[in-house]
Amino acid sequence: MSDAARAAASVGLTFDRLTIEGGKPLEGTVDVRGAKNLVTKAMVASLLSEDVSVLRDVPDLSDVRVVRGLLEIHGVIVEEGAQPGELRLDTRNVRRAHVREIDAHAGSSRIPILFCGPLLHQLGEAFIPDLGGCRIGDRPIDFHLDALRKFGAIVEKLPAGIRLSAPNGLHGAHIHLPYPSVGATEQVLLTATRAEGTTELRNAAIEPEIMDLIAILQKMGAIISVEPNRVILIEGVKELRGYTHRAIFDRNEAASWASAALATRGNVFVKGAVQEHMMTFLNVFRKVGGEFDVLEDGIRFWHPGGALKPVVIETDVHPGFMTDWQQPLIVALTQADGVSTVHETVYENRFGFTDALLKMGADIRVHPRGFAAPNRRVPRRELEQAAVITGPTPLHGADIVVPDLRGGFSHLIAALTAEGQSTVRNVGIISRGYENFGDKLKALGARFSVEG
Ligand code: EPZ
Repeated sequence: MSDAARAAASVGLTFDRLTIEGGKPLEGTVDVRGAKNLVTKAMVASLLSEDVSVLRDVPDLSDVRVVRGLLEIHGVIVEEGAQPGELRLDTRNVRRAHVREIDAHAGSSRIPILFCGPLLHQLGEAFIPDLGGCRIGDRPIDFHLDALRKFGAIVEKLPAGIRLSAPNGLHGAHIHLPYPSVGATEQVLLTATRAEGTTELRNAAIEPEIMDLIAILQKMGAIISVEPNRVILIEGVKELRGYTHRAIFDRNEAASWASAALATRGNVFVKGAVQEHMMTFLNVFRKVGGEFDVLEDGIRFWHPGGALKPVVIETDVHPGFMTDWQQPLIVALTQADGVSTVHETVYENRFGFTDALLKMGADIRVHPRGFAAPNRRVPRRELEQAAVITGPTPLHGADIVVPDLRGGFSHLIAALTAEGQSTVRNVGIISRGYENFGDKLKALGARFSVEG
């Protein structure tokens, strides 16, 4: 079964192909719930206690299903709570899983790497299957493994995955990340909270989802302080208890719907979006010519009419412009009047989705090695790429295949923006990060039909 089909089946998605009749503005309201990139980590954090945790606002995503499955094979009882989107995680009987069971999850998500610290604390060993996730670059795990070794873990690479053990327990460490990696920062947090002694993490990522994970760990009994200049100090504690927590909203999903409103000349109220965590996106949205209104329970995004303006963007770690935001926004930039440039500095292969836009009539030139430009905010990275988008170009319908999660959503936006009919295939991947996207599109007035 393909990754897309597996993802789709896990959340009961019955279609893999959308035929979209474009050219109609999206109008209405969509709800966003908890962030995929927090919820999955919060579920792993529950493993650090022998107790019951309650997580609220959990979206029904295939990545959430993958993590749930991995927790269950380790003896965690995961049940739906009383409210919609509430998960109850009972970690009182964590046990070793069979390699065969773990293998069944190989290649389906990158979250399993975060099981290392909690499993080492609970069981003294861990086995992590081959990782999956979107194919947007090499996505190595060297920072994770180096950090785990510093805590005292023994790492053995096997053909089917990675075996870790900690015969002498885990102890605090001094870790300086070569890059403020989101996943490696989470790895350190999840491992250090119960390690003996103090851990000093330098060059940490400080994304809002990481701050929310720290809030959860603090509720559990951890002692973590976030210092200036990307330094995080963690004083290890012997035991942690369960937590009750409402997940931070999904700012990637919110930015995606905002970009869809802009590209289709529509007007979408994103219920649940919070200004504080989207300020960098809102600045760019305004510079492009989009309008927004911050309300108490969400943000309204709309195209005010007239021409959109070109921009120069550099993706970066927080508080910079997120890499996950550039893909949906590029579709709107094909409609701007002039030349926009997007420097992708986080991943080395995140413009693959633009091939489909070219097919639909966009004028986008990808520079696979990036290019130096004066007055750059972000220092140039080896793996950098750049895309130069010249607009406005009318888009026309085409037959396109979704390559990855955010690229897939961009394909939906492009098909909704284009005149005529498009067929978007492999849409199962989109269910990794967008809950009920078919129903949401319908609620916004999109015209489409589905096929299996
Ligand atoms: C998280 O990925 C997100 N995924 C990504 O979202 C997001 O794009 C990314 O952070 C950046 O914000 C999840 O939270 C599940 P990184 P992560 O470690 O943690 C390099 C989506 O669509 N690196 O910050 O894997 C790496 O190759 C996904 O929702 C190493 O070299 O990202 C990349 O160039 C896609 N060695 C950079 O660091 C390592 O050991 C940033 O990666 C780890 C990372």
